Amino acid sequence: MKPLVIGNGAREHALAWKLSRSNRISGLYVAPGNAGTVTLGENLQTLDVEDVEAVARAAVDNKVDMVFVGPEVPLALGLVDALTESGIPAIGPHAAAARLEASKAESKRFMDAYRVPTAAHRTFSDPDQLEAYVRNAGRRLVVKKSGLAAGKGVIESGDTEHLVSAGRAFIEDGDSVVVETHLSGYEVSLFGISDGRDYVLLPPCTDYKKAGVGGTGPNTGGMGAICPVPWLTPGELEVIRSSIVEPTYRGLRDAGLAYRGVLYFGVMVTADGPMLLEYNVRFGDPEAQVVLPLLQSDFGNLCDAVLHNAIGEFPVRISGASAFGVVVAAPGYPSDYPKGLAVAPLPQPPEHEALVFHAATTLSADGTITTGGGRCFTAVGLGEEFLTARTNAYTTAKTICFPGSWFRPDIGGRLFG
Ligand code: AMP
Ligand code: GLY
Repeated sequence: MKPLVIGNGAREHALAWKLSRSNRISGLYVAPGNAGTVTLGENLQTLDVEDVEAVARAAVDNKVDMVFVGPEVPLALGLVDALTESGIPAIGPHAAAARLEASKAESKRFMDAYRVPTAAHRTFSDPDQLEAYVRNAGRRLVVKKSGLAAGKGVIESGDTEHLVSAGRAFIEDGDSVVVETHLSGYEVSLFGISDGRDYVLLPPCTDYKKAGVGGTGPNTGGMGAICPVPWLTPGELEVIRSSIVEPTYRGLRDAGLAYRGVLYFGVMVTADGPMLLEYNVRFGDPEAQVVLPLLQSDFGNLCDAVLHNAIGEFPVRISGASAFGVVVAAPGYPSDYPKGLAVAPLPQPPEHEALVFHAATTLSADGTITTGGGRCFTAVGLGEEFLTARTNAYTTAKTICFPGSWFRPDIGGRLFG
């Protein structure tokens, strides 16, 4: 099997790393890839992954026999539709099913239609109606841009003026806005992988989305993640499965959306039971970096089972260890940040203790690695015990150095995402 992984983040480095460990792999491409994936296969560095026809042509030309799509934008643009037309099997939903992430308004309609518990909500495309609703609600609300926003479309402020101005701005930019009740609890990210008929669930993760210590400051793409989640009980997990995951897959089948790929359930566990915050139509980042190292089954075989409608019979083996991910970010992230920062020689810990996944890095001719994004690396610590994994992650994160590099020192705490 010669797969092509689409993307250049730490999630895609983790996907490429996991595929490179498979007995089935006879070659590996990553587009556009980064300085980490270059050591695992061939980067198709100049391929524009949002040009879906160009990606399909590159897949045919390179005789790729499976494409794994990491990020949401190419999925929403119809990359899997283009690949299917070119006869290339792909893991990732078609554009119609990718609407579950690309339109929060449509995903809320899907949740309502299939009775998936979620926060009470209304969708607005008129700014005055939105303003009147927010001002008169009498309870704390969250305002969400309906379309893709790279983690910047959700306003959770307790300040009504901020909610109103952000909501109006989203509508004036041409999008609709979902306004929903603010929920309290703790968050869990769950990943299902389905072949259109059956699905398997991977172990639960928690993602730490805020930039600041104690879950303060602005939202980010995710500053760290842990897997599994020590405080989620088997009983709570079963309730999430039966009340959220099952009705979703039933709904997908019922709606004729043969869903082949990864589906991300962003869940808030509240005092009234688990509620679905959102679907994403792909692995989370940094969640993929902590889930994939715990998967003991051959990942190439698992992908093959997804492509051959055999995931229901696939024996998914998960390690009993813990994985702990810490994101090392550029100065200023998630606001403006510099790119092209020179990275000091990276740590090379033994793989059973820690892994270093790159995001958007580049390798220059003289062998220097430079940064290219806001979240630059994920240091993943592994260990039989949660605390060992934590120590291994922070020991590694501390030795990933470039000017202004920083990380959250409190990943793994229970009550502050
Ligand atoms: P979403 O993109 O809808 O998952 O929202 C991004 C983040 O905003 C979530 O991971 C939560 O931390 C927060 N959030 C979203 N919706 C709510 C809500 N109804 N109540 C509280 N926090 C929320
Ligand atoms: N870590 C959250 C996401 O990937 O959307």
